[in-house]
Amino acid sequence: MTRILTAVAWPYANGPRHIGHVAGFGVPSDVYSRYMRMAGHDVLMVSGTDEHGTPILVQAEQEGVTPRELADRYNRMIVEDLHALGLSYDLFTRTTTRNHYAVAQELFRTDYANGYMIEQTTTGAVSPSTGRTLPDRYIEGTCPICGYPSARGDQCDNCGNQLDPTDLINPKSRINGETPEFVETTHFFLDLPALAEALGEWLRTRTDWRPNVLKFSLNLLDDLKPRAMTRDIDWGIPVPLPGWQENSNKRLYVWFDAVVGYLSASIEWARRSDDPEQWRKWWNDKEAVSNYFMGKDNITFHSQIWPAELLAYAGKGAKGGEPGPYGELNLPTEVVSSEFLTMEGKQFSSSRGVVIYVRDILSRYQPDALRYFICAAGPENQDTDFTWAEFVRRTNDELVAGWGNLVNRTASLIHKNLGEIPEPGELEPIDTALLEVTRAGFGAIGALLESNRQKAALAEAMRVVGEANKYLSDTEPWKLRKTDPERMKTVLFVAAQAVNDCRVLLSPFLPHSSQLVHEALGGTGTVSPLPEIREVDDLDGGPGYPVISGNYTLGETVAAWESAPIVPGTPVPAPSPIFRKLDESVVEEELARLENKDQ
Ligand code: MF3
Ligand code: ZN
Repeated sequence: MTRILTAVAWPYANGPRHIGHVAGFGVPSDVYSRYMRMAGHDVLMVSGTDEHGTPILVQAEQEGVTPRELADRYNRMIVEDLHALGLSYDLFTRTTTRNHYAVAQELFRTDYANGYMIEQTTTGAVSPSTGRTLPDRYIEGTCPICGYPSARGDQCDNCGNQLDPTDLINPKSRINGETPEFVETTHFFLDLPALAEALGEWLRTRTDWRPNVLKFSLNLLDDLKPRAMTRDIDWGIPVPLPGWQENSNKRLYVWFDAVVGYLSASIEWARRSDDPEQWRKWWNDKEAVSNYFMGKDNITFHSQIWPAELLAYAGKGAKGGEPGPYGELNLPTEVVSSEFLTMEGKQFSSSRGVVIYVRDILSRYQPDALRYFICAAGPENQDTDFTWAEFVRRTNDELVAGWGNLVNRTASLIHKNLGEIPEPGELEPIDTALLEVTRAGFGAIGALLESNRQKAALAEAMRVVGEANKYLSDTEPWKLRKTDPERMKTVLFVAAQAVNDCRVLLSPFLPHSSQLVHEALGGTGTVSPLPEIREVDDLDGGPGYPVISGNYTLGETVAAWESAPIVPGTPVPAPSPIFRKLDESVVEEELARLENKDQ
């Protein structure tokens, strides 16, 4: 048994999430966690909404509400969406809790005390017409490194390099197009050069990451400069130092606090359990594993900034130092980053209407249909495209005609002819051959899931489903009723066992329907748990909020990753279809919806 922290990127609470987001961080992290729990590991899966920084501020201004009101609105909406998708967080919280403020401030304080936060005066951008500070990402210009014309002041989306607004050639405000003025301002900078050696030492031990992620992360080491970890902004976590704490126009940089969320959410989870210190088993114990899931635009913050914050906290850079009260905290075992999902050949863009929100797709289609598409055709290792035609094709040909049909045929043959799981007679070679295939699936698919090769894992599971369908066509149990009823019983027993094995093999990907398949064969109790939304009080006296949580205990609500023997005599009810077949007209309807928005 290994302790595994599944650390899932925190979505900004500045709007509803679209399927590109959940394809990047959501579904893959859930598949991984579900599998690891089934395999007997002690998984802690945490995340929350990211509620500070300029994205929230700018959107609040557009909607005419306070940042807090905006964050409350979208926190709740995102909680509902991720819950509906069945993402099994142990805790999905938010960055505006008092607990998170305290933990983020503690990280900053110790990083500072150890000498890794250096005060520097630099130039900041101000909007000449309003006199207000212009946040980095709201400045656009040409990237000095690759020449990309729409690089932002914090990062170039084309070459992935981190930038400062003053680096940009021909900078312009993205809010009103004017040329910013640069004025002097003082900030705290994380001393990355002093942490470079420790970072490199750690990163060079990370040999089994996805090649793109590792290469990108190693490249970052070549040019480490101090990075500002405070901002001129009035929305965020106060800088916990004398003279700064009271200054309402200086706050911690949103990325400094957001990555601390993984730790603060673990602490919050433990504080809500019967052992408030048990988060340490995932963070202080060297044997524990931590896997971080995100889209590729987040890599820098997880393979550089967050490890640097942690190394500084432990006093492990060139300036030395002592760990703070949280002790020596584990660095990421792996940064599991996905590539981008596009939509009908275009980049997702909420403002241009090239978007399909999670809540919209879930209002019309089954959550497992979306999960299936993401797992089968998502951007695991390269950019991929979501098209409605492909969504309909995969749902109908693979989910409905492949897996759903196998379940339905088996359950209905048993229900009609026998009413219960039959007692088998002696197995023939064709029977044992199929059961060998389904049993072998556990080892093969498990190994793929362990290393996050989810596409290959799902393909293998669907190949097993195909074998089971072929078995039914080859043995034709519907013809045996009259000719050889005893043989029919054996065949239907074997088919039911194969369905049950496939149900286990598919449950990390398809948690909703796996539970239904279990029930279709007369099973009772929960084998594939779904998360719950709970309204909780803030632990330290702030306003209450909704969280996603759940009971995912192996043996209680989670089935083990192994073949579960079916029990002869179990009544099998009349089946109803598990998956909904989609009409071909869906493609045109959905494309028309997109056209209407895309103006
Ligand atoms: N809010 C960021 C985004 O949507 C992700 C934050 S991930 C965390 O790109 F590390 F900060 F948690
Ligand atoms: Zn660039």
